[in-house]
Amino acid sequence: MKYLIFIFIIITNLICQSNSKECPCGNDQLCKPLEIEPRKEFIGFSVNSTHYPYYNWDTLTTIGIFYQEEIEDKLLCMAKTLGVRLVYSAFYPVDQLSNQTHIDEWINQQLELVQSTFTDGLNFDVEDPITDPIVAKQYTQLVAATNNAFKSVNPYYQISVDVAWDSSNCIDERCYDYVGLSKASDFLVVMDYDMQSRVYTKTCVASANSPPSLVLAGMLNFTKLGIDENSLVMALPWYGYNYPCIGMNYTLQTFECIIPPSNYLGCNCSDASGIEINYSIIMDMLNDTSIANGGLQWDSEFESPYFNFIDLFTGTQHQMWFDNPQSLNIKVTVARSMNLRGVGVWNIDQLWQDPNLSSEMWGALNSFF
Ligand SMILES: *[C@@H]1O[C@H](CO)[C@@H](O)[C@H](O)[C@H]1NC(C)=O
Ligand SMILES: *[C@@H]1O[C@H](CO)[C@@H](O)[C@H](O)[C@H]1NC(C)=O
Ligand SMILES: *[C@@H]1O[C@H](CO)[C@@H](O)[C@H](O)[C@H]1NC(C)=O
Ligand SMILES: *[C@@H]1O[C@H](CO)[C@@H](O)[C@H](O)[C@H]1NC(C)=O
Ligand SMILES: *[C@@H]1O[C@H](CO)[C@@H](O)[C@H](O)[C@H]1NC(C)=O
Ligand SMILES: *[C@@H]1O[C@H](CO)[C@@H](O)[C@H](O)[C@H]1NC(C)=O
Ligand SMILES: *[C@@H]1O[C@H](CO)[C@@H](O)[C@H](O)[C@H]1NC(C)=O
Ligand SMILES: *[C@@H]1O[C@H](CO)[C@@H](O)[C@H](O)[C@H]1NC(C)=O
Repeated sequence: MKYLIFIFIIITNLICQSNSKECPCGNDQLCKPLEIEPRKEFIGFSVNSTHYPYYNWDTLTTIGIFYQEEIEDKLLCMAKTLGVRLVYSAFYPVDQLSNQTHIDEWINQQLELVQSTFTDGLNFDVEDPITDPIVAKQYTQLVAATNNAFKSVNPYYQISVDVAWDSSNCIDERCYDYVGLSKASDFLVVMDYDMQSRVYTKTCVASANSPPSLVLAGMLNFTKLGIDENSLVMALPWYGYNYPCIGMNYTLQTFECIIPPSNYLGCNCSDASGIEINYSIIMDMLNDTSIANGGLQWDSEFESPYFNFIDLFTGTQHQMWFDNPQSLNIKVTVARSMNLRGVGVWNIDQLWQDPNLSSEMWGALNSFF
């Protein structure tokens, strides 16, 4: 008898290993890739596997999975039921772009991952510098090959590509083949943040993370290349930058905050001098009576909110630049009037004590539709 049980265990183990996981949603139909025609998108980047109950499920169309934990069954079944695609963030090492063996293995792995977890595609998030046009073409070819492999299994799988905020000027040395990438994928997700990564001005001062006028100019540059508006998603930040101000004689009303030099890709004036902070934490800081601050301000040049405060640990002046419903609304209105494919957010895992704050932030994005 013991012997039989042992055999039974071995056989069931073998079956479980060879068969992928069973559909956890009670109905196998729910575990098929979502077969939804191209539509306007609201792509939310998710970095925490447990916050999904708080998302605005009515308006999200795609969730980018940027965490290592497995996707919870409840999230999977909820997304399938509500018609929201789940796509994995996909990173490919640039130094292997000419290695066909590696490419074939990688594409198979990604396809296997997506199929075995009943998800809906990939979001390419290669943010490395690529200055050689040959390598840029190879990256486009990788995306095209991945897209073909997925689409030949199911034409409704979604493949998107994250790109920097401007197609000109090789932002952050990403001289990618933007036109090629837009044709090789379903759409580009234009990352309209970290826009102060390299600033060539005389004085190095704290500034807005995502100024609407530059977001517009960057987006227009994509369309000037001939990229269809329907292939462009505007991704906006739900985070800001906390900058230390150097020098003396600051008051909480001083506008100009001189920041320490820090080298980013050969430029010594960069948002790398600041620290990224989530919007929910920023609002908690503003509301925290133990932190001396100059009150919420609006900069009309960069159409963004900011405030000065005294850092609790160092006792020195800091300046916070961020986005709120007011600045987000300006940009979402641009996205809508340009008739872009959609909007997006890095990241949607902010939790608020105040439900009004939460609904205003989601509402700013929802106004795209
Ligand atoms: C996700 O969020 C929960 C609740 O806010 C938190 O306890 C947990 O540490 C977070 N997980 C990660 C990996 O940050
Ligand atoms: C090419 O990729 C294969 C498979 O990952 C790997 O074994 C090999 O070392 C790679 N070749 C080079 C030159 O990196
Ligand atoms: C847009 O393209 C023009 C022409 O190539 C360039 O001068 C400009 O710096 C680009 N970026 C923005 C944000 O305007
Ligand atoms: C700060 O203000 C004092 C008094 O106005 C002045 O003497 C000093 O030069 C100022 N220091 C700096 C660094 O501007
Ligand atoms: C930053 O670099 C510029 C030249 O690129 C140089 O003139 C300037 O002195 C540098 N500033 C600091 C604070 O290192
Ligand atoms: C921002 O929030 C996300 C999700 O809760 C968390 O993983 C991350 O650590 C937070 N970042 C900061 C700087 O607090
Ligand atoms: C500010 O703090 C108060 C008291 O702790 C709290 O009731 C309120 O919800 C907070 N407001 C925001 C915007 O977080
Ligand atoms: C939330 O919004 C409602 C309606 O605008 C308002 O009556 C209420 O006071 C707000 N609550 C907070 C905590 O701000």
